[in-house]
Amino acid sequence: MEDIYKYKSKNWDLSSRRVQNTQAIANIILNNIDIGSNDKILDLGAGTGLLSFFLSQKPKEIVALDSSASMLNELQSKIDQFECNISVVKSSLEDYICKNCFEGIISSMTIHHIKDISALFSKLYAMLKENGFIAIADLDSEDGTFHDDNQGVHHFGFDFNMLKDIAESAGFKNVKYKKVHTIQKSQGDFDVFVLFAQK
Ligand SMILES: C[S@@+](CC[C@H](N)C(=O)[O-])C[C@H]1O[C@@H](n2cnc3c(N)ncnc32)[C@H](O)[C@@H]1O
Repeated sequence: MEDIYKYKSKNWDLSSRRVQNTQAIANIILNNIDIGSNDKILDLGAGTGLLSFFLSQKPKEIVALDSSASMLNELQSKIDQFECNISVVKSSLEDYICKNCFEGIISSMTIHHIKDISALFSKLYAMLKENGFIAIADLDSEDGTFHDDNQGVHHFGFDFNMLKDIAESAGFKNVKYKKVHTIQKSQGDFDVFVLFAQK
């Protein structure tokens, strides 16, 4: 599969807008979830590891899963800076099999790249241990102008009530929405949320 991040990965962490957004997502996760020191957490679409980095003081291990080799190369180059163990896994979520593996699953700005959202939530549910949590950050519904190039973008953000229904159908309980941040671009303002839920 083509690595659409090949030319973006090198400068990914240099965007202060991106770093600020991820820091805001991490802060809201830290304020809402008690991540235990023995926990194993999956970062879905970890990319260069921005979200994992901001949360790495909490769990025992983070599995950084991503389908892009170039993004994971950037993560690998700074792996000494993380406070917990990081296992780097180059795979799409669809090909990654691990049932009842994680105390929690985190994700930042990735699920709009995943076509089948019902299958996604069912898979996340199966990957979690009993009472495990998800904290999934992404864009609120937008008009398709957020990305300069919509290659690989399957959803122009999400309507929360639609996502809540899908998450509940997959078995999740206590589905909650928190607005995190507004990303300001020249073409407009784009709201970012975190969806929290529990197995
Ligand atoms: C917009 S980037 C976000 C990266 C990182 N989470 C961040 O906030 O900086 C989306 C990431 O999700 C990864 N990705 C997209 N679809 C995926 C899939 N089906 N399975 C695994 N990774 C995926 C991409 O390779 C990319 O690194």
